[in-house]
Amino acid sequence: MSDPVRFLTGLSQALSTLALYGERHPATDRAVESAYRTLTDLQRGRGAAAFTFLSEEVLFGRDLVPELERWEWSARFATAGIERIEIDGPVSEPQFARVLAHTAAILGLAGEPRAELWQDGPETIRFGRVRLEAAARGAEASASLPVATLGYSLREERDAVGWLHEEVTAGHAIPLLEAYGVVRSLSLAMHGSQEMVLPLLTLKEFDQYTTTHSMNVSVLAMALGEFLELAPAAVRGFGLAGLLHDLGKVRIPREILSKPGKLTAAERAVIEAHPADGARLILQGQEALDLAAVVAYEHHRYHDGGGYPCIHYPRAAHQASGLVHVCDVYDALRTRRPYRDAWSSTEALAYIQSRAGSEFDPAMASAFIEMMTRWDGRISLQESA
Ligand SMILES: [Fe+2]
Ligand SMILES: [Fe+2]
Repeated sequence: MSDPVRFLTGLSQALSTLALYGERHPATDRAVESAYRTLTDLQRGRGAAAFTFLSEEVLFGRDLVPELERWEWSARFATAGIERIEIDGPVSEPQFARVLAHTAAILGLAGEPRAELWQDGPETIRFGRVRLEAAARGAEASASLPVATLGYSLREERDAVGWLHEEVTAGHAIPLLEAYGVVRSLSLAMHGSQEMVLPLLTLKEFDQYTTTHSMNVSVLAMALGEFLELAPAAVRGFGLAGLLHDLGKVRIPREILSKPGKLTAAERAVIEAHPADGARLILQGQEALDLAAVVAYEHHRYHDGGGYPCIHYPRAAHQASGLVHVCDVYDALRTRRPYRDAWSSTEALAYIQSRAGSEFDPAMASAFIEMMTRWDGRISLQESA
């Protein structure tokens, strides 16, 4: 058993014992003592330790703890508002015992929450909600969208996506663990505060377009999936499909991708090969990601049969492809490109509205417009520096 698993197991056992026997009981003392030992083991050789509890998953730092998938305490912690435990320095055993008593009270297991337990608690161990500041930075960053600041920068995720593209460019298999990790972090960033936040990156350097665009489409696809009240597993699937939708662009030479003027027919053909290339790259991976492959293949297909690639036996695109298509176009229009300025959100939404029923699935287009209108204040724009 790894140190993080031993620590959380010890913690949950101490909390159960506390619930059963109360604070001053030899059994509780023993359980607290053994939980404390797992804490010192956990801290040995490590700087800070942080756990995040999602309803069905536990993260240690940014890594999923697979042994604790569907761990009942994770849901219990998350429901009681304990979404995160951070430990970044020495904690004495009596301090740890007080933190446990307070936690048991918050969870409704034993006693009442008492301010003194908390106030006397150590500063090096914190339990609570994932903190994301929602401080408005004012309107200067964007005339049309309110700006919220996210408590973390998504820099590691950007680096991970950049590396993922490099791996695929070099002919290696898609590093799926990293791809899943990025989707999970984006989902975590979206749900870090009580109200959902949409962390969207704005482009600084053209070189970063593929990275920031993939992440934005992933966030928008998950948001739209949630707006449509789809199941969490489906929402994550859309997040992954959004992240990988343009993977085939690794095959397009840079000079064509960033060409400011009109494309020649040959160049256009190279661009239009990216959906099929992307689907192939995804299917060559170690896992069958059928949905992501379908979305990569179909994300430039139109609702009315237009778009590309041209298919010989016309059929309706998958719902997920229609969903990613709207998100894709919205993000592409909102981003400055070598050949045009960025559109405002209002302009991009008007464009989507005007092409509902021709380019876009009308139900998907209207759901997207409604979502962006309703969740306008929850968009957190960050420069991708
Ligand atoms: Fe594309
Ligand atoms: Fe795209």
